[in-house]
Amino acid sequence: MANCNNQNVNHNHINTEQAQAVVIMVPFPAQGHLNQLLQLSCLISSYGIPVHYVSSAIHNRQVIVRTNGLNPMEIAKLHFHDFPIPDFDSPPPKPDLMNKFPEHQQPAWDATLSLRQPVAEYLQNISLKAKRIVVIHDLLMSVVVQDVASIPNAESYVFTSISAYFHATFFGEYLGKPFPIEQPKNVPSFEGCLSEGILNFLALQDEPVKYRAGDIFNTCRAIEGPFIDLIEREDAAENRKLWAIGPILPSKSLSANSQHKCLEWLDKQARHSVIYVSFGTTTSLSG
Ligand SMILES: *[C@@H]1O[C@H](CO)[C@@H](O)[C@H](O)[C@H]1NC(C)=O
Repeated sequence: MANCNNQNVNHNHINTEQAQAVVIMVPFPAQGHLNQLLQLSCLISSYGIPVHYVSSAIHNRQVIVRTNGLNPMEIAKLHFHDFPIPDFDSPPPKPDLMNKFPEHQQPAWDATLSLRQPVAEYLQNISLKAKRIVVIHDLLMSVVVQDVASIPNAESYVFTSISAYFHATFFGEYLGKPFPIEQPKNVPSFEGCLSEGILNFLALQDEPVKYRAGDIFNTCRAIEGPFIDLIEREDAAENRKLWAIGPILPSKSLSANSQHKCLEWLDKQARHSVIYVSFGTTTSLSG
C-alpha cells in the first residue's frame, strides 16, 4: 500500500481554490486517534488531494510533536487548522483506581464539543471553494461534524481507530444486540473498562453518527475478516459503504537504517519469544 514515505505520485501544487475534492480530518483528541488520522492524512495527501486537519491548537501541536515514522515533508503538505476550545482541567492520571480508564482526559474531550461551531463555519467556507468535501472523522467527533448534513457538496465518513473486533463486539453489547458470530474464546468482558464520562460522551454521538455515508477501518480482511464482514452487512443494510484500508503503518519505521531503540532491542530477541501488547488510550499505567 502507498504511504507517506514511499510513493510515486505527482505532487504538483493543488490549492483549495481549484480543488475537485478536499478532505477534512476531524480527529478525537487522544493520541492513538490523533496519530492514526495523521497517518491517513499523509496517505491521502500522497495522492495529491488537499487534506485539512482540524483540531484545537494544543492537540494539533501534540500530534505533530509526537509523530513517529512519518516524513516531515509529507506532514508539511497538510493544512492544520487550530480552532478555539475553552480552557480545560488537566489533572494527573490516577493509576491506582480499580478502573484504569484515563478519566483525567475527559475535560479535554468535553472541551472539544465546542468545535462544532467553528467546524460548521469552516465547512460552509470551504464548500464554496471546493467541488466536493469529504469529512473523515472519529466516531467520537460525530457531534462536532454534524452540520455536514446541511452542506450539499459534503459527505462524511467515520474512521475507526479501534479494531473491527472491538468495534463489532463492543457496539453489539452497547446496543444490546446478540452477537451473531463465534467470538474468540477467553476474552474478558468490557464490563468496567470504560468510564461513565466516556459512555455519556459516546451517547451524545448516537444520533449524529447516523449522518455518515460510510465507515473506514484501519484493519484488513486477512486479520479481521469475519468482523469486517459483519459490520459491512450492517452498513449495507443502511446503505453505507465500508472500507478496510489498514494497517496504514508508515513504512519508514519498518525499513529505515536508524531504528528506534525498541526495535533494536526487539531484533535481539529469539524468534517467536515476544508478545506485542498495545495498551492504547484506555488504560493508566502505574509507575
Ligand atoms: C469563514 O470565512 C469568513 C469570511 O472569509 C472568515 O472571516 C472566517 O474566519 C472563516 N471561518 C473559518 C472557521 O474558517
